[in-house]
Parts: sequence; C-alpha cells; structure tokens
Amino acid sequence: MTTTPPSLDLDTPLEELDPDHGRALAAVLRADLRRHDHLYHVEARPEISDGEYDRRFTRLKALEARWPELVTPDSPTQRVGAEPRSELTTVAHTAPMLSLDSSQDPDEVRRFDERIRKVVEDERIEYVLEPKLDGVSIELVYEAGLLARAVTRGNGREGEDVTPNVRTIASVPLRLREEERPAPPLLAVRGEILMRLGAFEELNQRLVEGGQEPFANPRNATSGALRQLDPKVTAERPLECLAYDILLVEGATFRTDLEGIEALREWGLPTPERIELVREVEDILAYHAAFDRDRDHLDYEIDGVVIKLNDLDERVDLGATSRHPRWAMAFKFEPRKEVTRIERIAVQVGRTGVLTPVALLRPVEVGGVTVSRASLHNREELERRGIREGDLVRVQRAGDVIPQVVEVVEDPAAGARGEPFVMPDRCPGCDAEVEVRGPFTICPNRFGCPAQLKGRIVHFGSRSGLDIEGLGSETAALLVERGLVRELADLFDLEPGQLEELPGFAEISARNLTGAIRARRRTELRRFLFGLGIPEVGVAVARDLAHHFRSFEALRAADREALEAVKGIGPRMSEGIVDFLAEEQNARAIARVLERMEELSVPDEGPAGGPLEGQLFVFTGGLESMSRSAARKLVEALGARTAGSVSGSTDVVIAGEGAGSKLEKARSLGIEVLDEDAFVALLREHGVDPAGG
Ligand code: IVH
Repeated sequence: MTTTPPSLDLDTPLEELDPDHGRALAAVLRADLRRHDHLYHVEARPEISDGEYDRRFTRLKALEARWPELVTPDSPTQRVGAEPRSELTTVAHTAPMLSLDSSQDPDEVRRFDERIRKVVEDERIEYVLEPKLDGVSIELVYEAGLLARAVTRGNGREGEDVTPNVRTIASVPLRLREEERPAPPLLAVRGEILMRLGAFEELNQRLVEGGQEPFANPRNATSGALRQLDPKVTAERPLECLAYDILLVEGATFRTDLEGIEALREWGLPTPERIELVREVEDILAYHAAFDRDRDHLDYEIDGVVIKLNDLDERVDLGATSRHPRWAMAFKFEPRKEVTRIERIAVQVGRTGVLTPVALLRPVEVGGVTVSRASLHNREELERRGIREGDLVRVQRAGDVIPQVVEVVEDPAAGARGEPFVMPDRCPGCDAEVEVRGPFTICPNRFGCPAQLKGRIVHFGSRSGLDIEGLGSETAALLVERGLVRELADLFDLEPGQLEELPGFAEISARNLTGAIRARRRTELRRFLFGLGIPEVGVAVARDLAHHFRSFEALRAADREALEAVKGIGPRMSEGIVDFLAEEQNARAIARVLERMEELSVPDEGPAGGPLEGQLFVFTGGLESMSRSAARKLVEALGARTAGSVSGSTDVVIAGEGAGSKLEKARSLGIEVLDEDAFVALLREHGVDPAGG
C-alpha cells in the first residue's frame, strides 16, 4: 500500500554505494523519517505503515554504521544513545518560568477580567483559552533549529537538565521543521510533558507484573520517567509533550499568543487541543464548564483551564507580581476529595494575634499529597459547620495546595459524637483574655504575647524578609521562651554565648546564627518592608513601595494619597500601612530596629541618571515603527519608568493608533500626550534612533 519515493534507495547493497552517495541518501532518509515522525506523533495521521517506517529507519542506521561521520545529533536514530549519568545537573532557564495564579471561583475570574479591563481597553481584549495540563512543566531550547536543552521548571529560575531524556520523546522534534517558516536562531518554549491514561495503565500493569511498585498517578509516573539517570529507561516510558508558550524568541516577533502558537505548530511542535479565542467572561465560564464535563472522557489529565491575554503588548503593560503574570490565570476544577478523621483540634496564634483552630487529621493522601492538618479558619466557620473532634470529614486541597475540611461525613460506625469545640477564652500563647471581633478570635496582647512575637520573628527572618538562615520556627520559639528576644530589635543584640546555652545549639551554630543576623544589618529596603509584617504588604507590594519611596523615611512620611499613587495600592492597603506605621508601639519598635540597621538599599533597575529619569510613561494604542515592548525598553533605558494605566502620577502618555480610554483619561487629567512622531522625535533628541535599531 505504500510506495517508496525514488530517491529513497532502500535496496542497493551498501558495498555498492560510494561515500558521497551514502551521504546524500542519509540526508534524504533523515528528512523523510522526520516527516513521518511528525505525521505520526504530532498530527496523528501516518502515511506509511510501521513496517515501512522500520525499513527506512534500519536503512539509515546501516548507513550511519558504515560511515559514522554521517551521524548528526538530530538524526532520528539518535534519540536514545546517551550514556547514563551519575546525577542531574541544575541549569538556568533562558527566561524565567513563572507560575500561574489560580482559582476555582468564577468570581475570581470575573475580578481578573475587571483588573485587566482597567488597563486594557475593552475593544482590544481577547483571551486565549487552553486546557491546563496536569503533567510536568518543561523548557525546550532550540538553537539554530536544533534541540539544545530541555530543563524542568525547578524553582522557575533554574531547573534540572533532562535533555537526554526529553530527546527520547518522539513527539519532541530534535530539529524544528522549516517547511513553512524558517527556524529562528534561538527559541525557548514552555510546555508540559505528560502520559496518556491508557499508556499509564499499561505501564503500571507492566511494573506490577515485574514485581515493582506502580505509580500513584500519571503525573508521578511522568516526573519519575523524566528524572531518570538512564535515558534508555525514559525511552521505554510512554511520554508526550505539548507546547503552549514561547518564553523567548530571537529573530521573529509575534503580536499575539495565537501567532506564537501557530508558529510552534509550523515548527513541528505539538500543541494542546481545543484552544479558543474569546472576549467575554461568560465565554470563559462556558469553556471551563464544557471541559469539566469532558474531563473524565479525555485520555490525559487536566486540572482546569488556562486563561491568557492574547495581545503580547498588553501583557507587557500588565506585567507580573513577583510570582505570577497579571495577564493570565488558571481557572481550576473542583479538586478531588478524600475522607479521614479529625484526631484533635488545636489552636494556633499567628503573628497578627488571630487565633486559628486547626484540625489535626489522621494522615490521608489527597491527589498524591499526604495531608495531616487543615485550617478550620475561625470560630464562626467552626460553629457554622459544626465540626468536632473525632469527626469523620471530607478533605480536599484547595487550589490543590492548601488542605481544607469540606464537610462532616456521616459515620454509621461511630457512637456519640464529641462535644462541640469551643474557642478558648484565653490566648494559648500568653493567657490574655481574647477579644471576639466578628468571626475572629484575637489575642489583644500585641506586644506581650510570646506566640505573636514568635510569628513576627519568623516572618522577619523569612526567605522574602531578611532571609536569616537558621532562624526557623523552633529557634524563634526558644528565643522568646528564654526571654532572649522581647522585640525584633533584640535579635541584633544576641551574643553567641547566649545562644550556646539553648538546646540544639553549640559554639559554631551559635556563631553562625548571630553572624547571619549581623550580616542583615545591610539589606534591601523591600526585604525590610516585607519583614515588618505590615498588614497587606506582601512581597510584590513591598518591592513596589521600596522602588517608589526609595527610603524608609520617605515611606513613613507618606500619607494615604501618596501611597495610592503607587501601582497596585488601593484605599484598604494605604489605610493599613498608614495606621500600622503611626501606631505608637509599632513606631517605637521599628525605630529600635532602624537604630541597628546599617543600610536599607534599593538596587537600581536600569541605568541610573538617564535623561528621562523620574518620569512615568504610559503607552496606549499601537505604534507603527516599533512594538510597544520595544518602546518601553527604550524609554526605560533613558531612565524613565513605565506603567500600564494612567493615573495622577503619570507624566507622559504616548498615544498610538487606536488609542482609547487611556487617552481620554490622560486628556481629562491634563497629562502631556505625544503621538508617535513626537515620541520618535523625543527619542532622537536623546540620541536614540528607533529606525536605526
Ligand atoms: S501557561 C506564565 N498554559 O500549569 C504562564 N501553563 O502554574 C505560563 N500548565 O506548571 C504557563 N497547562 O506549566 C500554561 N496550557 C497551559 C498549561 C500550563 C499546564 C502548567 C504550567 C505550570 C502550571 C501553572
């Protein structure tokens, strides 16, 4: 049924071929096999039989065996072949791999859409919808069209180099196709490695028959296969790859996500199915509902859908928090649930004084993770749901991370239930009488409660705070119990001799901890602001405040209006910050810490002192002579800052083609507006010629 193209000489005995002939034939075979790999593994419409494929493959192998110099790294024969390694090495990503903010709540999706509509004009909004694949995230790097590197997500900045393993995955092209589009000099792609359910079950059956442990779920099986030291083992595992995002590309530009996806397809990379483009929240909800219905009929696991803004310039405008892009989110499905028993209910006191009831559970595995405790939130929640010690409960992992008790399950085997749980009248940390504020139970002893102080110390020294190694929760508890630290400032006065007395400490560990604390007398302002535990001030807000005010004194002097001029700070936050800093005991405690600090720095983001320094630019509409992200980079290189929306602190608005509501707002606020010609003239004035590149 299949015919052999004439140039594919499969019959002439090798001895009769001269080396030139051999080389030409090998090249033809490689291109041919690559094409059939693509038809089979990516497009799922094979044109030749497996037997015919094998015949051509064997022929290429024979040619390469006869003339080893003909072997190329991207030859279809070279997918397996690398030697086992002794360990996986860690390498940096070409571009950071952020994670997605996620929620199961349609209202969160509505709020996401509203936030975007504050920055992006309605008529320009388009969302790309995709299934959220429940596999293992991967970066594939192609250099000059050849697969150079495959790296797991790791911490987002660096991951494990699993290149030899990923090369064994048949649907990952070793060389980009160039039939429709030339390969770029550099392409970094993000995708997901996964295992189809049928293949997963077969694999597990094989493992069980061979006397081995089966995998709990396809994701674990995928992760295990990907992290093998011997690529031959990976090659036997039925892995697939789907690519969904361009992390970085050189030598090509795309205006939209869909253009990028189209290019990925043309380059031969498999992409997710059922990608859709919509404009309204209701369409997002419908897409989510449809996939949720179909979820159990798909032959791979998904845990939600991903919503992404299509326009890449608009994405730049929206930017990212420290962890998530603001232009995308994951809209997850209801998680899977398990039943277990509450052994006891304990009460925790947090650094802000809130008492939280916590269910200590008989450990249970929920979707691959063992859960042994779950927050019961607050008194009102606890009463409303009638949860008691000893109850049998259904638990789930919210957003698949934080464990939650969903409901009490009827327990026919049990006798009488325990007594209803009542929150204590006194703080378990300091014995102060608690206050009831709405649903919350609060220890009012802000500066005298050791449990709150312990929480503040841990927060101050946490990774995003002053990052003090060795200052974990147990050590903080000891320091407080022994009276060595009565407020944050005392940390800086600790002497090694005092620590040596503590259980678990010796001379070296004591010196290490005091040294680590001393070293943090110089720290970044953003870390200091985060570490103070100001209400509502997380990592991203602390960073934005530091960049805006540049010194603690300037922040302390700011009123609510000045605070609200900072991107992302609204009325609630500004009030929380002002009240916190004005509170007498806080102010005194902070002053004592400040006395001990030597430097609170704000590292520069770009070349300082540029001619546009101090000016805030906002772009709206499309520019003809350059992309909006290029324009942003140019003004930033000249020292200006840029933002996505127009506010009182905006200095200049650059209005391109199709500018809409932002332009109107700029006019109403009397902000300087430049059209594209004037903008280009401004750049030239400062020695930048956009046309000249
Ligand atoms: S987009 C910065 N699209 O879900 C945005 N992610 O935190 C890049 N995932 O592990 C991610 N399917 O690897 C995107 N269609 C899809 C996805 C997807 C699965 C993974 C991603 C990450 C997690 C999101």
